[in-house]
Amino acid sequence: MAPKATTAPGAAAAGPRAIVDAPAARPAGIPRRHMDFAFDPRAVPRDWFDDDPFVTTFLDGLSLLFPEGERFFVDAVKHYRERLAHDPELLTRVAGFIGQEAMHGKEHRQLNAMIEAHGYRAVPALDAHLRWLLGAVRRLPPRFQLGATCALEHFTAIMAERLLLDPDTRHLFHPAVRGLWSWHAFEESEHKAVAYDVYRAIGAREPERMAVMIITTIIFFAELAHYHARLLAARGVLHKPWRWARGLWTMWGRPGYFRKLIVPYLAYFRPGFHPDDRDVEGLLDAWYGWLFADGGELTDALTATHYPGASSEAA
Ligand SMILES: [Fe+2]
Ligand SMILES: [Fe+2]
Repeated sequence: MAPKATTAPGAAAAGPRAIVDAPAARPAGIPRRHMDFAFDPRAVPRDWFDDDPFVTTFLDGLSLLFPEGERFFVDAVKHYRERLAHDPELLTRVAGFIGQEAMHGKEHRQLNAMIEAHGYRAVPALDAHLRWLLGAVRRLPPRFQLGATCALEHFTAIMAERLLLDPDTRHLFHPAVRGLWSWHAFEESEHKAVAYDVYRAIGAREPERMAVMIITTIIFFAELAHYHARLLAARGVLHKPWRWARGLWTMWGRPGYFRKLIVPYLAYFRPGFHPDDRDVEGLLDAWYGWLFADGGELTDALTATHYPGASSEAA
């Protein structure tokens, strides 16, 4: 049977057109995809997002948070694995979540090495600071850590969905780094409900979930602002707000990537919220074809795909 064309709202115009008409069917499940990106600091400009130092340093800061942050997510979820023995389907999804986050950390370390090579000497100090901060959070009750993980997974899910939906923003990334962000966004959408379902399975209550989101939002944005300020200072534009104007417009004006996140963010505070309330299956089907099918954007960087529970790995 010929592959069926898949259309996703807003994404059809965004994807690589060569294979739009013949996307491969996306297998069910959450696989660990082994990626191998290479970033040459001499070939990638320091301001790799739209030649814009403000937005690029913001994204650099986000990338610097990922390896340790995602390791924290993995540990927070792993803590409850034994409590899930009655639910093999959720355990399989947890295994996929762990595999994907581990790969994200590994590849963002490559990007972070490039960022450091671009002259941001604050990177090791920021890493040490984050390890200290997360060390402090790890002393809090495991249930809080899982709640914070769900809150941050909501952030990554809504940012990822926006990136996949937003051709204008996606094409502002330098081609050498676009693949990493596309892959990460794709997989964050793919596993967005896993930590949340574990949180529900251990009996999280709604007021607690929302309170943890408020605390996490404050800490997350304080940290992100701290990272951004350090990198802006290193870039020499911290005290040049006129250099911020274009970046702020991109983020909050047009295309307004962050402005468009406000409503999806607030959805977390709706009683009974679930990440799958926002259906991204059609979007993922389309992007699977564009990224991973024969001739897809990421087939060269994809070295193996492993489905938890499968006996063999498929390249
Ligand atoms: Fe991730
Ligand atoms: Fe994630």
